Amino acid sequence: MFDNFPLWPDRASTAASNVDALFVFLLIVSGLMTALIFAALIYFAARYRRRRGVLAEQIEGSTPLELTWSIIPLFVFMVIFAWGAVVYFKGRTPPRDSTEVYVVAKQWMWKLEHAEGQREINELHVPVGRDVKLIMTSQDVIHSFYVPAFRMKQDVLPGRYTVAWFRATKPGTYHLFCAEYCGTQHSGMIGSIIVQEPAQYEAWMSGGTTGPLSATGEKIFAELGCVTCHRTDSQGRGPNLQGVFGKPVQLEDGRILTVDENYIRESILDPGAKVVKGFKPVMPTFQGLVSEEQLNALVAFVKSQSQPGPGGPKTAAAPQNQAPAEGSQVQ
Ligand code: CUA
Repeated sequence: MFDNFPLWPDRASTAASNVDALFVFLLIVSGLMTALIFAALIYFAARYRRRRGVLAEQIEGSTPLELTWSIIPLFVFMVIFAWGAVVYFKGRTPPRDSTEVYVVAKQWMWKLEHAEGQREINELHVPVGRDVKLIMTSQDVIHSFYVPAFRMKQDVLPGRYTVAWFRATKPGTYHLFCAEYCGTQHSGMIGSIIVQEPAQYEAWMSGGTTGPLSATGEKIFAELGCVTCHRTDSQGRGPNLQGVFGKPVQLEDGRILTVDENYIRESILDPGAKVVKGFKPVMPTFQGLVSEEQLNALVAFVKSQSQPGPGGPKTAAAPQNQAPAEGSQVQ
């Protein structure tokens, strides 16, 4: 209903109308409350103004009145809470089988890499109607990935992954902003999200690539010697990584956690932090030895070892291993 309203940004994702509806609701509630308060203020100021010959009288409190103005707002706030929570959790939870894009922010640009291997700078091509999950980290300071047309904003932090997702609903080119002050050229840290029809997108995707990100990761995995300990049988000094992603794992100290992108990342940079039960903390750290892009590739490789997804046959854990990945180079 606001499509021609110039103050309203484009609405180009499935989340956009939910966020807008909540925002309009908040605006209306705030507007009504403001009007109510000012009306009461003016009325009482006039009604109880000082008049010659009239003595002020003390008015005692009224329990029904106080209950009314406590209970009605309680319900209004509970509606805001529940509604906000639904919108928030929807926005925080990437659907399964989303297309994955790795984002590395730095002063002052966005580096994006598709799981299929395509790389972009300050531009992201996505197909219309598909869920896209962004796995983001920063090489230096805190940035924030902000796409107003998608009503999506997520801080991008150094030293860990944050995740965001969207499903674009309308082809077009949309602004990408950095929404966290990150230095003198913060305002120039902008880009575009280019939403294409599936056919156009496939054409774009078939352009030059160095092979899937997971294949690049497999190469690094071999080069760094990870493969000597993380063997695909149970004889290795490190855990077998096949089929572990997305699954619970028990640690030496008894804790159980789910293997996700951040756990893999931490285990590469700080291997002693969360050692899997039954293994010794013998792995050296790779802090400073791998770039953010290489880390992303390694994470993508470990994830590929757990496809096709939860519930799939474990024996088919490594369908992408045959990709030769010749000529793939990471910087
Ligand atoms: Cu990056 Cu502001």
